[in-house]
Amino acid sequence: MTCRYRCGNACFHEAPNRSGNPYFGDVAAAALSRRTLLRAGAVLALTGGATGLASTRAGATPPPHTAGPAAVGLRFEPLTQQTGDHVTVPPGYLHDVLIRWGDPLFSDAPVFDPERQSAEAQERQFGYNNDFVGLLPLGRGDHVMVVNHEYTNEEIMFPGYDPDNPTRQQVETAWAAHGLTVVAVSGRRRGRRSGALDVVVDHDLNRRLPLSAEFELTGPVAGSHYVRTSADPEGRTVLGTVNNCAGGLTPWGTWLTGEENFHQYFANADAIRDPLERERLDRYGAESAETERKWERFDERWDLAQEPNEINRFGWIVEVDPYDPTSTPKKRTAMGRFKHEGATVRLAADGRAVAYMGDDERFEYLYKFVSAEAYRPDDDEHNATLLEHGTLYVARFTGDSPAGEIDGTGALPSDGAFDGTGEWIPLVSGTTSHVPGMTPEEVLCFTRQAGDAVGATAMDRPEDVEPSPRTGHVYAALTNNTDRTAEQADEVNPRAENRFGHVLELVEDSDDAAAATFSWRLFLVCGDPEDPGTYFAGYDKDQVSAISCPDNLAFDDHGNLWISTDGQPDSLGANDALYGVAVDGRRRGEVRQFLAVPTGAETCGPVITDERVLVAVQHPGEVDGANYENQASHWPDGGSSVPRPSIVVAYRADGKRTGHA
Ligand code: FEO
Ligand code: CA
Ligand code: CA
Repeated sequence: MTCRYRCGNACFHEAPNRSGNPYFGDVAAAALSRRTLLRAGAVLALTGGATGLASTRAGATPPPHTAGPAAVGLRFEPLTQQTGDHVTVPPGYLHDVLIRWGDPLFSDAPVFDPERQSAEAQERQFGYNNDFVGLLPLGRGDHVMVVNHEYTNEEIMFPGYDPDNPTRQQVETAWAAHGLTVVAVSGRRRGRRSGALDVVVDHDLNRRLPLSAEFELTGPVAGSHYVRTSADPEGRTVLGTVNNCAGGLTPWGTWLTGEENFHQYFANADAIRDPLERERLDRYGAESAETERKWERFDERWDLAQEPNEINRFGWIVEVDPYDPTSTPKKRTAMGRFKHEGATVRLAADGRAVAYMGDDERFEYLYKFVSAEAYRPDDDEHNATLLEHGTLYVARFTGDSPAGEIDGTGALPSDGAFDGTGEWIPLVSGTTSHVPGMTPEEVLCFTRQAGDAVGATAMDRPEDVEPSPRTGHVYAALTNNTDRTAEQADEVNPRAENRFGHVLELVEDSDDAAAATFSWRLFLVCGDPEDPGTYFAGYDKDQVSAISCPDNLAFDDHGNLWISTDGQPDSLGANDALYGVAVDGRRRGEVRQFLAVPTGAETCGPVITDERVLVAVQHPGEVDGANYENQASHWPDGGSSVPRPSIVVAYRADGKRTGHA
């Protein structure tokens, strides 16, 4: 079921990247000095501005420390692996369901009734399969919460669902259950524990953006012939956003969300006869015939034979202004089109906005976008245009150990680290293409092929990419890739049949986010710590929690990295979970499990503050063989209820701060 509805059977077919781009193994001895500095720099908390790697002291890494308390912010009793149909938090913590699929955003929303669903009801209710979660301040303990609704699980959502013959009512309800939610939440209700939150129904900012909502294409591809359709001959207005996975918040108070597995909604690639057009579709894995959900039967825009360009209007980073409920969300074509996991913005030394982005599929690439103009505090109008113009780069990694030492098992090479250097290869700057034979519009619309052309490094499913607000060091979750062979193992993707994933640490040269070159090392090589092919930044493997399939990343108020997972049931035999890990100091690499989600669910959208932890419990009950009449999960309502994707808030029972003694 996961394969069918979540990623459109993306793993059933051969990975779409057949470019033969490098699985490198070059020895770059010259990289040694930079690597040594990276190791030292990685343990320094750079506060009060970038000090630059050159100013850090080689050899300053303190030895790991396993006695005494964990890092500040991670002082809780770590969970063991969990398997039940419930949310688990450490002793001394409470958790509540903040909002569930079908809960009202407006007082005129019908009461949720899974037996009588409709698009009209769903458009006034919280959507399905919540993924990214962001909190933006509203003052006095209130926030506006932004949430993605990535996809729908029709078989467990709808009574009597026939996958061969979905009804119009079911399809239109699914259109309304996709998209985005903006909803105010308050921490001020009387009698509530500190940390708890409540939804504010009917708040002025509350908003659903289902598949019927208008989105504006901006940037170089807007208006081009690649995005013109019969419904939109101007090529500037798209109805809806699909498969919104992770995301990020910007320094100027907007929300970025990534359109991920958009390919699965478009039918009949076989109808496309032009070889170049077909190649472009295949590079993104478009469906050759009918789709799983069969939306093409109800609206021809999902049928490539009828509307060959509609697919080009999806696969973008979308920017939403949650503070303006009348604003039209923007699809930012300058940031490239691929299976966007998300985008997280950091400012460069000169104030330009830099967004790090992963393309979540086997053997795909890591990207960054650098805006042409600098961020201006207090100029929202200017900042709202930053992501329209800039340079898109793709990453190429080089290892510093001999290729013969990377044997595919995860055994460290003789220099003791999977590490090296890398470069950001420019693909397009504004209206100037850097890729021979491709126009700027083509580079941005068919970005995977641009990455192929310049020799980008094929990675093990790059998902969330998150810069540390404290150090500027960049962390990337590489979820897994069981297709990688031993011959394809390289220093940055060092395991064959990589079931457990790894976490990459990248340090931009001069600590400037706009740099063209960087150093890198693997921070975690995930799995059961008893597996010799795992690595926890050198920390004592007897002292860490098992972790696999890292997916979403977030930082807490103390510079600790938090990692949520997607795939532990299949890889570790345990429910997906949320972990905290120190990236600096003597506890660097000490992975501690904080929370586990129910049967069949994935842990998404973590937000970690001293007050509370929020997670999106996505697709509870998504288990092969389950359907509405035979559910694998009844979370959160229990009994014989339908499982409901929900946002959970966890907090200390005693009102103290998260992870403090
Ligand atoms: Fe929607 Fe890459 O997970
Ligand atoms: Ca090495
Ligand atoms: Ca994800």
